[in-house]
Amino acid sequence: MTANELYRFCLKELSFTDCGDFEASCIFEDILNIYKNDLITKNLQVTNQQVDLVKSLIYQRKKGRPLQYILGKWDFYDMSFFVGEGVLIPRPETEMLVDLALDSIKNIQNPIIFDLCAGSGCVGLTVAKHRPDSKVYLFEKEDKAYEYLEKNTEKYSLTNAYPQKCDIFSFGFSDLPQADVLLSNPPYIKTEEIPSLQREVLNEPVSALDGGSDGLDFYRCIYSKWLKAVAAGGFLAFECGDGQGQEICNIFKPKTVSQKIIFDFNNIDRIVTFRI
Ligand SMILES: C[S@@+](CC[C@H](N)C(=O)[O-])C[C@H]1O[C@@H](n2cnc3c(N)ncnc32)[C@H](O)[C@@H]1O
Repeated sequence: MTANELYRFCLKELSFTDCGDFEASCIFEDILNIYKNDLITKNLQVTNQQVDLVKSLIYQRKKGRPLQYILGKWDFYDMSFFVGEGVLIPRPETEMLVDLALDSIKNIQNPIIFDLCAGSGCVGLTVAKHRPDSKVYLFEKEDKAYEYLEKNTEKYSLTNAYPQKCDIFSFGFSDLPQADVLLSNPPYIKTEEIPSLQREVLNEPVSALDGGSDGLDFYRCIYSKWLKAVAAGGFLAFECGDGQGQEICNIFKPKTVSQKIIFDFNNIDRIVTFRI
């Protein structure tokens, strides 16, 4: 079979997604090391083993397994993170948290950053890589997600990143320095909305999605428990869900001096920031 024929087979099988062409080219590049341009310019043959492998991946994809888990990695900012079952797939909209964090520390030497609910580590590790003089503490509760966090920390040999296995609802601060910046992309989906999520999203861990009955449990926890871990004048930035920005501002208003809601290109409230 030629690579071109196999590619066409993939396109047909992936026609149920909006981006079958993109997904097929990802599988070809990452799994077979064959680039889309080469399908046209070179008459490449594929082995039976390669055909079987691609067919098994397409089968998984049709069953709803996210492409990112199939590939085992996903790009975020200018890095690539290991992902798989048990860890949230990094999303492009979360990159804004990194930009805000880097901007907030541009005049601070040796800043201390906390990334709560760190998952793969995409937020905190990206900040750590871009600011080697910083110290970034990343907090994650779930076993599987924590494994990925450690694996991604090792991948980039980040000696200024410190994964902490903990539940942010019950963490004791004892010997941590105060943070200049506290970041979080916590679970923020309302419990009742979880069953109606897209099939692929339901393959991601519920513990990464479920923010309680109104979706705001984690913000309330951060407000009541974590503000004391932030230095005076410190900066906070959180991702949030559609329509949650004002409610989160209301939670944080009593103990913060400024509050800001940032909307994305679809005019959805995506990020809230505070100064304390
Ligand atoms: C929405 S995901 C965000 C992951 C990552 N920061 C990102 O942006 O891709 C939330 C993360 O919070 C973790 N988590 C859930 N409950 C937690 C808790 N009580 N303490 C610490 N982490 C928790 C989940 O395991 C998950 O990795």
